[in-house]
Amino acid sequence: MIGKSYIFHLFLFLLILPDSIYSQDNICLIPQVESMVRKKGTLSIERLESIHFPDEWKNTGNLLVSDLKELANLSVMVNASNPSIHVKKVKMQEPEMYMLEITKQGIIIEAGDQTGMIHAFSTLLQLILGSEGKELPRIIIHDKPRFSYRGVMIDCSRHFWTIEQLKKYTKQLAFFKLNTLHLHLTDNQGWRLYLDQYPDLAFKGTYYRTFEDLSGHYYRKSELQELINYAAMYGIEIIPEIDLPGHMLAALAAYPELGCTGGPYEVWRQWGVADDVLCAGNDQVLKFLEDVYGELIEIFPSEYIHVGGDECPKVRWEKCPKCQARIKALGLKSDKNHSKEERLQSFVINHIEKFLNDHGRQIIGWDEILEGGLAPNATVMSWRGESGGIEAAKQKHDVIMTPNTYLYFDYYQAKDTENEPFGIGGYLPMERVYSYEPMPASLTPEEQQYIKGVQANLWTEYIATFSHAQYMVLPRWAALCEVQWSTPDKKNYEDFLSRLPRLIKWYDAEGYNYAKHVFDVKAEFTPNPADGTLDITLTTIDNAPIHYTLDGTEPTSTSPVYDGALKIKENADFSAIAIRPTGNSRVVSEKIDFSKSSMKPIVANQPVNKQYEFKGVSTLVDGLKGNGNYKTGRWIAFRGNDMDVTIDLKQPTEISSVAISTCVEKGDWVFDTRGLSVEVSEDGTNFTKVASEAYPAMKETDKNGVYDHKLTFTPVTAQYVKVIASPEKSIPEWHGGKSYPGFLFVDEITIN
Ligand code: ACM
Ligand code: ZN
Repeated sequence: MIGKSYIFHLFLFLLILPDSIYSQDNICLIPQVESMVRKKGTLSIERLESIHFPDEWKNTGNLLVSDLKELANLSVMVNASNPSIHVKKVKMQEPEMYMLEITKQGIIIEAGDQTGMIHAFSTLLQLILGSEGKELPRIIIHDKPRFSYRGVMIDCSRHFWTIEQLKKYTKQLAFFKLNTLHLHLTDNQGWRLYLDQYPDLAFKGTYYRTFEDLSGHYYRKSELQELINYAAMYGIEIIPEIDLPGHMLAALAAYPELGCTGGPYEVWRQWGVADDVLCAGNDQVLKFLEDVYGELIEIFPSEYIHVGGDECPKVRWEKCPKCQARIKALGLKSDKNHSKEERLQSFVINHIEKFLNDHGRQIIGWDEILEGGLAPNATVMSWRGESGGIEAAKQKHDVIMTPNTYLYFDYYQAKDTENEPFGIGGYLPMERVYSYEPMPASLTPEEQQYIKGVQANLWTEYIATFSHAQYMVLPRWAALCEVQWSTPDKKNYEDFLSRLPRLIKWYDAEGYNYAKHVFDVKAEFTPNPADGTLDITLTTIDNAPIHYTLDGTEPTSTSPVYDGALKIKENADFSAIAIRPTGNSRVVSEKIDFSKSSMKPIVANQPVNKQYEFKGVSTLVDGLKGNGNYKTGRWIAFRGNDMDVTIDLKQPTEISSVAISTCVEKGDWVFDTRGLSVEVSEDGTNFTKVASEAYPAMKETDKNGVYDHKLTFTPVTAQYVKVIASPEKSIPEWHGGKSYPGFLFVDEITIN
């Protein structure tokens, strides 16, 4: 029998519910807010009938109200005298800050500026979407961004995006509380804006869009102005980039007199870095740049103008009489840090910086602008890793971190690239994006002040449709925005993943194309030398049931259910799938091949390259093979020293062959091995060489991809096998990295 006192205590308990019980409200905000206090009770969405905002924010306010209707099916009347959503302008300590309070009666938003109000609406929209149209949790949120610059770049040159598509892009950025859209408007493959003084830039510099579509695509000024105004309504500033002095073939095709050789030139029909660049010795070029940037700043009101500066080969300048005359006239000299041609590039950047500073603007450049000495007021966008940004901060220059190693969203987001839309390479899954910490620990607190923000870039060589572009950025933008907005103590990847499905519902509702990898089964493969097994653990972000097979057949709901680590002892063709009411995930598969070395203890006698160490040398005997992408973690790298490992076969074993594979990507300084040798031992101390082979240096015409090397020898019985493979020690003459050491990427060592 239930006693009265029990019921009374239950009643009391319900009356003073601890806050934690509300965690089932599932408040899923992305990015994570600065602070949130949950109160008891809820607000019925039905009570949200009217809104008031300050008159000066009226245009944006009206837009946000129409978004509430469109995205959350919430209709509110504007400017009622007793509003249920009351937006107030108050003094805030920092830009973009806001406060959002949901009371029993309604909602109060306080912001110091319009952008703060926009962020508050983004939070409110996420709360409403999360409430499924019923009750909003009572809550007080105080929120502000970690970094003042929170951007993304889209390349409009390699493929062209319509103004309507860019507007859609912009609106999504606002949802994630970003504030900057950087447009890469010009490159070798297309000049994408019309300028009055040089109409042929648009007419002759844009004739090809994709290999199939050769029609011209460029933006008219009025169209750009429309986009700028639209973005401003969402608190997003557009920063234009005209990339100079390299990446200029499209301009040279229209105005060949601006190049060192005088042309003729063609808008490029291939990707990569072109040797033909603007002639830095020609005064007409300086006038051209002033004219072009002069018109550009009439269109774009942004304080910052991006001048590019990346990847400008100096081969034309080295041979050009005009460029050499300029070098002489300016007294530019090579020293141990900079060549005189790098100094000449700095002269050009300084010239354009002065022009823009005189017109009240500031420049941003890619980190190459450090190379000949930094222009006095330039902001550096660090893309080749973080080192350029670190160097610039030490020189007391502002920095935006956009390292390709974390934030190049044209990189693949899956290892099985065969199942991805064809891309430029790389491997950048969501978890890696999320893990990015933009504040280099090597900087002093004073130097850290110069790190102003974070940006992700979408280069579009291989991205020809808007749907593909969305697939590349969604949901990686969600991870990005938390890096940009939330302080490190608020960040937690598991927690982030738990908030993500809510966002995905919104993508589904809006019909956005997005990548679904985070819903795939996550498989961890760990060689277990003690048991001689490959141990596979499987997880999903939402603990969906996982089914697997080991015989190469497609897993279905009738396949075995995963319930704890699989221990694989022999060759297997593994596949797994997550099964949800909303549909099945993609299948993850791995072929597991056992040889005499598989899952055996292995030690490195010389170091693995730190940058590409991944899980270390056990990768070489895990029975799993890498594909043609060296960045997936299936390959590990050696540079400057040999791959030199010893495998313990655990008992005397007869062997007669050793094979390795290497992955070659010459453009990235990744070469095949120059030699392979095998030594054996019974005691692990005294080794005898049983086979070795030398391989020639790679030629320019040799293909990238996977190379296999196998040594066979008279059968010997041994317990310990030492395998040594030598990286290229001096990159050949024909290569841009000539005489530097190359990388050697190795995978599976197969002993039989
Ligand atoms: C760049 O990726 N070339 C800035
Ligand atoms: Zn020249």
